[in-house]
Amino acid sequence: MSLTEPPAAAPGPDPDSAPDEAARYLRDRISADSLTTRRDYLRIVATVSGGLAVGGVGVASGILHRHGDSDTLPEPKKVADRLAPGESVAFRFPGDEDRALAVRLPDRSLVGYSAVCTHLACAVLWREDRGADGELYCPCHEGVFDARTGEVTAGPPPRPLPRVILTEDTDGSVWAVATARPGEPTREALCRQIGTSLPETAGRLGCPGADRATESRRT
Ligand code: FES
Repeated sequence: MSLTEPPAAAPGPDPDSAPDEAARYLRDRISADSLTTRRDYLRIVATVSGGLAVGGVGVASGILHRHGDSDTLPEPKKVADRLAPGESVAFRFPGDEDRALAVRLPDRSLVGYSAVCTHLACAVLWREDRGADGELYCPCHEGVFDARTGEVTAGPPPRPLPRVILTEDTDGSVWAVATARPGEPTREALCRQIGTSLPETAGRLGCPGADRATESRRT
């Protein structure tokens, strides 16, 4: 599973299988903390740190408290079977109340954000027809966010859009896997949410304290 490259030898979910089977497969791989899982997370970090971990993200206290504010890793969620350049999809993540948006930019970059405007919580929309990269647009008061970073570029929103970390499986399906706090790099966000639940994965990511946790588990 990767934004930019297929996974190594590990078998992937059957493209023809039911969506819930694919979700179960991914969830089991993560909870098992297998070598494949660690590779997946390394790829996630490698790709998102180059493509998605751009700039900071903001969470409007009290309004968007759930976006990026979890201390546990959410269940991975399949948000689209495929996303072509210029297309977007709305979904809920990490909770059923948390509106989010995934967008494939014209250069094929994949970006994900909270779809709740940081001004007064209207729904943020993808407008492919605006600007070179398209824009994230809030129609309530003409708020505009940069599609590559989530930063505010126009209008009254006081903070950037919180980010949803996405990845892409070998079959082209798009998954939401984590969220990030304001200004939090992707690796830190993953480490925080992995916590002590996946010590070997945390070690591969270089998460603080991961070596001690792995060592104490062995003894
Ligand atoms: Fe989005 Fe006001 S609610 S700009």
